[in-house]
Amino acid sequence: MDTVKRVEEPMENANRIYQDPYYVTLLSRLEELEKERVFCKHDLSHFLSVGRIAYILSLEEGLSVSKDVLYTAALLHDIGRVEELTSGISHDEASASIAEKFLAESTFTDEEKQTVLSLIRGHRNRGENSLTELFYRADKLSRSCAYCPAIDLCHWPEERKNRTLRY
Ligand SMILES: [Fe+2]
Ligand SMILES: [Fe+2]
Repeated sequence: MDTVKRVEEPMENANRIYQDPYYVTLLSRLEELEKERVFCKHDLSHFLSVGRIAYILSLEEGLSVSKDVLYTAALLHDIGRVEELTSGISHDEASASIAEKFLAESTFTDEEKQTVLSLIRGHRNRGENSLTELFYRADKLSRSCAYCPAIDLCHWPEERKNRTLRY
């Protein structure tokens, strides 16, 4: 009988954030602030989709990057929306400064920390390199536009709307 080789890569740092009480508080603050929002929400489901799609893309495209790095960036990339909605600071910067606190307590190397921060800071623009570009695409691909009740109000250009299932 064939045996399936298990190659699951642990995600120590992403898990620490996932279970962190401050992170959980930020998630529920964001949920509360976006309660009436008709467009895409920035919730745990979005964060996990971004992490999963980014990881799938990295495997499909042969980019060597740690799963822990991708999921850490995904969990944190929009968490600064709380600050954006309450004090107007752009959320990529706000998310990066929250990320710095978590990264300081992580076991990531300095290079990995810088990668996480560059993915967060760059997630709103087409990337400067193949990894930031990949993360930008994962963020967009995470949205199921075909099922969105606000699709006709959405400002996304038609070609960006995900009307078919891809990931
Ligand atoms: Fe964002
Ligand atoms: Fe996002």
